Amino acid sequence: MILKHDFSLKEYNGFGVETSTKLFCRVTNSTDLQKILADSRFEDAIILGGGTNTLFVRTINKPVIKVDIGGIRIIEEDNKSATISVGAGVDWHYLVMWCLERNLGGLENLSLIPGNAGTAPIQNIGAYGVELKDLFVNCVAINVEDRASRVFHYDDCEFGYRDSIFKNQYKGKYVITTLRLILHKNIYNIHSEYGTLQQLLNDQNLLKPTIHDVARTVIQIRKEKLPHPKTLGNCGSFFKNPVINRPEFELLQNKFPNIPFYSLNNNLVKVPAGWLIEQAGFKGHRKGDTGMHVHQALVLVNYNSATGNELWTYAKEVQRKVKKLFHVHLEPEVNIVF
Ligand code: EPU
Repeated sequence: MILKHDFSLKEYNGFGVETSTKLFCRVTNSTDLQKILADSRFEDAIILGGGTNTLFVRTINKPVIKVDIGGIRIIEEDNKSATISVGAGVDWHYLVMWCLERNLGGLENLSLIPGNAGTAPIQNIGAYGVELKDLFVNCVAINVEDRASRVFHYDDCEFGYRDSIFKNQYKGKYVITTLRLILHKNIYNIHSEYGTLQQLLNDQNLLKPTIHDVARTVIQIRKEKLPHPKTLGNCGSFFKNPVINRPEFELLQNKFPNIPFYSLNNNLVKVPAGWLIEQAGFKGHRKGDTGMHVHQALVLVNYNSATGNELWTYAKEVQRKVKKLFHVHLEPEVNIVF
């Protein structure tokens, strides 16, 4: 267990904003996590995973616990599948590569997503037609109040689009320590239907792509469109794609016939926030050191030394303009810490 006073969190948040905490602790196993949660100095602490989906709006008045529990191992396998156990602090992309090296399939569409394994279930990370929930078996989490360990099975988690029980009823109440996923062996379930992915695979004449082809192509797409947080501060998509009622959508479509959309069911339609933001004139727009990325309007970026407050103020401006133009509310996908 490593304890630090007046510790800078600049390296611990995707936006790379300068902020610090009076008290910081890095834990590498669940026993230490339980101990520190019982320590009165860490009451009401902020729990940090990779920090790749968090915007610190101002200086942190609370203590911070960084969960750095490592380890990946196969706990069960047969000739069709393998169940793996992953420590919450394992880097997500490292995990994807670890699986691919062993020809374990399932995570390839989720290549190069910044963040840690332990925070992946909280927002049910997803990309190119696959979500974490598709491979999820269970996760072990520690209750912040009484430090008891609990196993959350699939049905307990209430997974939704970038959503789970850990963002709602249990927000701030549990710390995930271990994740268990089921991966495929020998016969794979390839998901190549997502527009841009399908197109790039076709361009390479890969009509029956392997898990390795999918991973390589997803990495190529992400590298072209999404800036890496270490080179340009960002937390991926800043807003969720809004889901709107069909009558509202039809009004919008009458006014903007080119609006891209995805029907979820008879009543609900999902609209790409990136399109709305681009139409509102923010794609590649910059104000001081804040702005929306030039290749992906959904990504808020810190060009150099923007403060958390400047980034949040800019995001609210985007939100306001989109609301004014389209009457659609954009909800942040990133965790905002005030
Ligand atoms: N679009 C624009 N302008 C833009 C960006 C997007 O018009 O600047 C429109 C286009 O019509 C495009 C559509 O939006 O066809 C969808 O764009 P894209 O395929 O890039 O996906 P997205 O909806 O912007 C979502 C996830 C990403 C994920 C990709 C691929 C959310 C909030 N974001 O983005 O996840 O990588 O799909 O599956 O659901 C993240 O969560 O941080 C993230 C990057």
